[in-house]
Amino acid sequence: MNATPLLQTVGLRKSYGHNLILDGVDFAIAPGQVKAVLGPSGSGKSTMLRLMSLLEQADEGSILLHGREIGVETGRGGNRAPMPERRLARQRADIGMVFQRFNLFAHLDVLHNVMLGLTAVRGLSRSEAAERARSMLERVGMAGHVRHYPSELSGGQQQRVAIARALVLEPSVMLFDEPTSALDPELVNEVLSVMEDLAAQGMTMVVVTHETRFARRVAHEVALFDSGGIVEQAAPEQFFTQPAHERTRAFLSHIH
Ligand SMILES: Nc1ncnc2c1ncn2[C@@H]1O[C@H](COP(=O)(O)OP(=O)(O)OP(=O)(O)O)[C@@H](O)[C@H]1O
Ligand SMILES: [Mg+2]
Repeated sequence: MNATPLLQTVGLRKSYGHNLILDGVDFAIAPGQVKAVLGPSGSGKSTMLRLMSLLEQADEGSILLHGREIGVETGRGGNRAPMPERRLARQRADIGMVFQRFNLFAHLDVLHNVMLGLTAVRGLSRSEAAERARSMLERVGMAGHVRHYPSELSGGQQQRVAIARALVLEPSVMLFDEPTSALDPELVNEVLSVMEDLAAQGMTMVVVTHETRFARRVAHEVALFDSGGIVEQAAPEQFFTQPAHERTRAFLSHIH
């Protein structure tokens, strides 16, 4: 992979109190690629995604989008400072994030959940925002639910709205944090199929997931994340059938 990675982390470190969670994570994803990230609970996968999507700040290391560092400003003397909230919000909108628990606004209907970023962050008019939101909701099969509130929807429907909400901002990359693990089994496929369509359209995607069948079918590369870093990554066939590391073999033997 010679092209500049679309999204990259270099030496990302993060501790909570005395617990070192990320121990210098180097991660890269090329444009148009889908990377599935597997790994045991508590290993730091969500933390890595939260840092990459600028929801939290790393203690050390950097995050590059299209080869340019994001989330910090470098002053004249080369000193680094956190970015003002408005600029941070604009950079965040370029990195779509989908959470395990949807995180929709309960007091807004579906249409307004999807419109909000367009008016608040992108500065679009309400009518323009509504039009784009409707067309994105159509794309995820939710056009018939624009006036419903999150509590009136199934988990699978809520997750598709959450995907539309991220996509409508036209992000460069989409990060998914176990997007189907809070869903009843019969609702998993409707979400995975939206994600698969997105991948087929060339979206760059990082997907933390336990869905090994999805990883095998859709991902270009699969990574094992454990104890605060990436242990191994490889093309799906190799990863699942001939992993190089003992830890990967042990992990796979537990989930199969
Ligand atoms: N805000 C926080 N404050 C303190 N500790 C935290 C915080 N967020 C995460 N942790 C701790 O960091 C570690 C990694 O958590 P993280 O949620 O990133 O793991 P994960 O790999 O996503 O796990 P899971 O598969 O269960 O989602 C855990 O030990 C967790 O308790
Ligand atoms: Mg997690």
